[in-house]
Amino acid sequence: KGRIFRDTLPLLAHAGIVPRDDPQTSRKLILDTNQDDVKLVIIRAADVPTFVEYGAADLGVTGKDVLLEHGGSGLYEPLDLNIARCRMMVAGRPGLTPRHRLRVATKYLDITRGYYAAKGQQVELIKLYGSMELAPLVGLADCIVDLVETGNTLKANGLEPLEHIMDISSRLVVNKASMKMKHARIKSFINRMAEAVARNTGDQR
Ligand code: PRP
Repeated sequence: KGRIFRDTLPLLAHAGIVPRDDPQTSRKLILDTNQDDVKLVIIRAADVPTFVEYGAADLGVTGKDVLLEHGGSGLYEPLDLNIARCRMMVAGRPGLTPRHRLRVATKYLDITRGYYAAKGQQVELIKLYGSMELAPLVGLADCIVDLVETGNTLKANGLEPLEHIMDISSRLVVNKASMKMKHARIKSFINRMAEAVARNTGDQR
């Protein structure tokens, strides 16, 4: 749903899949398409790996951040769609003077744990579900790990990006059993999506 869904629609159109219902106005969770045996399921990015892993959907689109937190078992990730691009960053107040053991607030526990472990730095993680920017402002944490796109949210809250952890974009994921059972059809779908991504990337240059 949301931005990932909007940015995926032109790629799907190139692959010959166009929703029949207007996704902007419809409140339906399952949309019919121009192909009778293809439906689109509208779900939160964080739930996509679960639907695809259990085979409730053959294919899905979600952010690399979500996939890393999910762990990725039971899924193939054949294609970077190069949409919904942003960066996973450490952010905090300018001139951060951390306490002995840095306290980091984030929704992304695994990514954050992995990042500081690779640096050999001991940190205390505080799990939040949103509005991470608030944590350094009220003394809950020294810094946050969050997605940054324009940087406007950080700036509006007097925070700045401090360390770049990784680039993030949306990926196509495929249920492993579906990939075997519907191989030819899924393979040709992936190829069409890859063409659309290449065309998009060409346009951006
Ligand atoms: C994300 C992220 C930041 C913001 C960054 O939140 O958590 O708050 O976008 O974007 P910017 O750099 O362009 O300001 P989102 O709006 O996706 O909502 P969420 O908190 O539910 O993830």
